Amino acid sequence: MVSILKLLKMLFLRKRPKAIDLSKIDLGERVKVHNAIGNSSPKGGIGKTTIQLESGVQLVLRGKRVIFIDWDIMSPRLSLRLLKELEAGPSLVKVLIGMMDITEAVREVVVSGKRGSVTVHLVPAITNDDIPENINKLLEEMNEPTRITKIVGKMKGSVEKLAREYDVVFNDYPVPSWATYYTYQQLLSTTSSWINLLSDSNPNMIQLIAQLHKRYTRNIPVLGTIINMVRPTPEELNKAKEYALELCRDVQGRVALTIPFDGKLYDVFAGGLTSPASLNYPPESSPALTIIKRFVDVLEDVIEGRNPPEGCESISITF
Ligand SMILES: Nc1ncnc2c1ncn2[C@@H]1O[C@H](COP(=O)(O)OP(=O)(O)OP(=O)(O)O)[C@@H](O)[C@H]1O
Ligand SMILES: [Mg+2]
Repeated sequence: MVSILKLLKMLFLRKRPKAIDLSKIDLGERVKVHNAIGNSSPKGGIGKTTIQLESGVQLVLRGKRVIFIDWDIMSPRLSLRLLKELEAGPSLVKVLIGMMDITEAVREVVVSGKRGSVTVHLVPAITNDDIPENINKLLEEMNEPTRITKIVGKMKGSVEKLAREYDVVFNDYPVPSWATYYTYQQLLSTTSSWINLLSDSNPNMIQLIAQLHKRYTRNIPVLGTIINMVRPTPEELNKAKEYALELCRDVQGRVALTIPFDGKLYDVFAGGLTSPASLNYPPESSPALTIIKRFVDVLEDVIEGRNPPEGCESISITF
């Protein structure tokens, strides 16, 4: 029989979770370059890849040399969009397991649309010949915290190498899951010079994003807070603009973007994935591309080594 004393102890001396001071959590050191840009969000399918691809293509149209690293090994959508097929050859998987240097994994890709063609560079995430052996090896390594730290350290050096060769490196990160946050946080806190935080208009999601940034990536300055796929009505866009600004101020970002849902950005066609909208439509014909174009002005400054002003400039559609 449990004595009354024991019962009281059980009730009142239960361990309460201690408040955690996020600023005391050690983070890695970010890359020592200014032109590696990452897009991050705990929400899948929110436009991380699309916004990077459109920004990258617009920068190429302005004469910049652009490279994308597709970090999304489980869902290599960017590689598929740019290469169409992923049969065999160099890939990020092969770099991660030490089979090749990142500079050997770069592919030159000509992308065409109705308005013309551009050349971009890409490190594809994975090719079919990585399955099963290379993937098995990688997943084996990812079970071991010391190996993860080592691999991520090497990748930091790889990004720095590419950043010195190209005008801009875009890190197209995968969507994280709480179950794999260790690797994700190691990767994100080291391989970008600037980070963009993306969300939909859901206020809970926005709060979570701010918290995750403070915990895992606060050593990387936030360039843009981006509320994407907003219902294209004045009321929704105005609300999203407030959310983007609130998040931006909370994480000391530089610009707050509101991007409407816009069919021209949607990449799925019955025939497969489309080429970037920036190669098919003039920016002024699409509200989303117009906003992205203004963001590219900011990106251009950043990759040329100029810091955008502090405070949060709103980039949104005005009514
Ligand atoms: N503003 C927009 N308007 C319309 N469609 C959009 C917009 N932004 C993105 N999309 C579409 O939403 C889908 C998801 O976008 P995308 O693949 O860029 O998201 P993601 O965050 O990279 O996803 P994942 O988490 O899988 O990496 C794509 O079909 C894309 O074309
Ligand atoms: Mg993506």
